[in-house]
This record gives sequence, structure tokens and C-alpha cells, in this order.
Amino acid sequence: MLGFDNSYEVCNCKNISIEQIIVALKEKEKPTLRDIQDLTTAGTECRHCIFQEGDNGKLKKKIYCKDILNEIKKERV
Ligand code: FES
Repeated sequence: MLGFDNSYEVCNCKNISIEQIIVALKEKEKPTLRDIQDLTTAGTECRHCIFQEGDNGKLKKKIYCKDILNEIKKERV
């Protein structure tokens, strides 16, 4: 997804991959960032992986939970 292998780890604090987020949101009709956090725990620790604007880490992430959410929504249209 978005040029990354689905095994790519989006959330390093919780070791959550793109694939795990895709699977977790499968049953959700209108998935939200909150769903990602609740169902996978991604983005629930340092929170830098949720979206770019909130990434205060020294080393910026290459992909965020929000990017994955937007892509999933796009694919469903
Ligand atoms: S990298 Fe996801 S909560 Fe820290």
C-alpha cells in the first residue's frame, strides 16, 4: 500500500503493520482513526504515527495511520 509492503511497521511503539490495520478495519463500514487505535493499539503510545501534523518525533515517520485510513476509504469507493 502506498509503495510500502503490507508488512511495513507503521506504529513502532506497538509493532503494528499496515496489514494489521487493514485486517482490523475490514468489518468497519466507516472506519476512523479512533477505530485503528481501539482495534490495533497503533498510535496509543507516543502518538507520532497517527498523522504527519502530530509527528513531533526526531525521526519522522514515512507513513502514518491516517494515510492508511485514507487509502482504505479510497479503495472502497
Ligand atoms: S509509533 Fe505509534 S504510538 Fe508511537
